[in-house]
Amino acid sequence: MRQRIALITGANRGLGFEIARQLAQRGVHVVLTARSAEKGQAAAEQLRAAGLDVSFQQLDVTQPESIRSAVDAICAQFNRLDILINNAAVLLGHTTPGLQFPVMLIRELMEVNAYGPLLLCQAVIPVMQQQNYGRIVNISSRAGQLSSMGGGSLGYRMSKAALNVITRVLAAEVRDYNILINSMTPGHIRTDMGGPQAPRSPEQGADTAVWLALLPDGGPSGQFFFEREPIAW
Ligand SMILES: NC(=O)c1ccc[n+]([C@@H]2O[C@H](COP(=O)([O-])OP(=O)(O)OC[C@H]3O[C@@H](n4cnc5c(N)ncnc54)[C@H](OP(=O)(O)O)[C@@H]3O)[C@@H](O)[C@H]2O)c1
Repeated sequence: MRQRIALITGANRGLGFEIARQLAQRGVHVVLTARSAEKGQAAAEQLRAAGLDVSFQQLDVTQPESIRSAVDAICAQFNRLDILINNAAVLLGHTTPGLQFPVMLIRELMEVNAYGPLLLCQAVIPVMQQQNYGRIVNISSRAGQLSSMGGGSLGYRMSKAALNVITRVLAAEVRDYNILINSMTPGHIRTDMGGPQAPRSPEQGADTAVWLALLPDGGPSGQFFFEREPIAW
C-alpha cells in the first residue's frame, strides 16, 4: 500500500505527540500540527531525530483559516490526506459546580474540543471522499459518556458529548466512501492534562487511537472505543 498521510492536532506534547510517534513508527507520514509553530517545530524535530518521517504545519483548531491553510498545504504537497486525529483539547473549570459554571467557559471548551474537530472533519472529508479512503479518530473521554454521566466538569463533559455526536452523525453520512470515523477514550493518562499520578502511560493511551487510524476497509465506524473494545455512549 502507498504511504499514508496523517494530520494530528495538538501533537506538540502529551497524547498527540505519542500518537504521532507510534503512527510514524508504523510507516505513516505524520504531519504533526500545533498552535505554536515553535513548540510544534521542536516536537517534529525530536521525532525526525529518531529517524521518523514527520513534518510540521501550524494549526490552531479555533481558527478556521489556520485549518484551511494547513489542509491546503498538506494536499498541495502530498495530493492526499488519509488520517485525521482530532486530539487537541482543553480542560477548563473542572472543579466548578455545574450550577455556577460560566457559559463563557463552555463556549471556550466547545470551540476547541467540539467545533474545532468539526471544522477539521469538514475540511478533510471532501478530500477523503475523492480518494475513497479515510480514517478519522476523535479523541473523546469517559467524561462525555452519557451512560455513566455524573456531576462535575459540566463544560468539558458537554464538549466531549458533542464530539461523540459529530462522530456518529458524520460516520453515518460518509459510510459509502470507505471513511471510518470513531471516538475513543485513552483512559486517565500521565500528561499535563491527566497529571503525574494518572495510572496509564501516554503509550497505553495512544494504542487504540493508532489501531483505529489504521483500520482495514470494512472496519467499525460510528463507535466509541476503549482499549480496542467498543463501549457504551
Ligand atoms: N490526559 C487524560 O487523562 C485524558 C483523559 C481522557 C481524554 N483525554 C483527551 O486526550 C486528548 C489529549 O490530551 P492530553 O492529555 O495530551 O492533553 P494535554 O497534555 O493538555 O495536551 C493538549 C494539546 O492540545 C493542544 N491545544 C490546546 N488548544 C489548542 C488549539 N486551540 N489548537 C491546537 N492545539 C491546541 C495543546 O497545545 P499547547 O501546548 O499549545 O497548549 C496540547 O498540544 C484530549 O482530547 C483530551 O481531552 C485525555
